[in-house]
Amino acid sequence: MQRTLEGRVAVVTGASSGIGEAAARALAHRGATVVLAARAEERLDFLEREISASGGRALAVRTDVSDRASVEALAGRVEGELGGIDILVNNAGVGLSGRVEDLRAEDLRHVFEVNLLGPLSCIQAALPHMREGGRIINVSSVVGKRAIPKVGGYCATKSALNALSDALRLEVAERGISVTSVYPGTTRTEFSKNSRRTRDEERGWRPRGVTPGRVAEKIARAAESGGRDVYVTLPDRVFVTAATLLPGLADRLLRLWARG
Ligand SMILES: NC(=O)c1ccc[n+]([C@@H]2O[C@H](COP(=O)([O-])OP(=O)(O)OC[C@H]3O[C@@H](n4cnc5c(N)ncnc54)[C@H](OP(=O)(O)O)[C@@H]3O)[C@@H](O)[C@H]2O)c1
Repeated sequence: MQRTLEGRVAVVTGASSGIGEAAARALAHRGATVVLAARAEERLDFLEREISASGGRALAVRTDVSDRASVEALAGRVEGELGGIDILVNNAGVGLSGRVEDLRAEDLRHVFEVNLLGPLSCIQAALPHMREGGRIINVSSVVGKRAIPKVGGYCATKSALNALSDALRLEVAERGISVTSVYPGTTRTEFSKNSRRTRDEERGWRPRGVTPGRVAEKIARAAESGGRDVYVTLPDRVFVTAATLLPGLADRLLRLWARG
């Protein structure tokens, strides 16, 4: 593996599990010093040791992205110990299932705190420490491009994140900072287990999904060379393109799918 990110400092939120954990490994393999941010401290410490043992550099920092002070403390520590941030991967996120008519405001507020205000705090805390050539990578979802039934609240958080990414991209372009949105489809992680549920209702058929390592490779490539929109699989890209061009047909098919 070529050490294309040697000398770069990469902050990965949600690095204690799934896509974030795999992304941290992929970035470390390319030579980046990786800051591991999430709440599960033991998992972060374990990953820090694993990366160090394989010749990489990592720093575990317990962080709750929904807590502004915690995010500012993270940025301060990275600046103090590593001298700045080159790559920010906003990956921490939680799911929420339930029909729109059943959604509880407190659940929706929580997922917005983590999935939207979390990235916003991280971006605002990182930008003053980000050098030219910096990269911001926001992990969205295909369902942030086309909402699907029974997860409307979660889809809304990712749609909002996409809007933030699109505006930010234009605002920071002159500073030589790129903003990439990554749109994974189903990925085999602990995501479903960690999701909030409005009711115990069947979600219906879902594709088996890709490994977190596959998404991580896309994130690592975006860290190397930027890019605007990144899909992980061809079917994900086809789904979003078809649903955008033929929204009525997509509605009909998604209604059938939701009936299961
Ligand atoms: N899995 C999928 O099918 C899929 C598909 C599309 C998009 N995504 C997106 O991919 C991202 C990663 O999800 P995943 O699949 O890897 O799920 P996961 O295994 O459940 O990992 C979620 C990560 O987010 C962290 N997190 C949650 N709340 C946090 C908070 N308040 N502060 C800091 N970190 C927090 C968790 O760490 P702690 O609990 O230790 O804090 C964990 O490391 C999410 O943004 C998700 O929306 C997932």
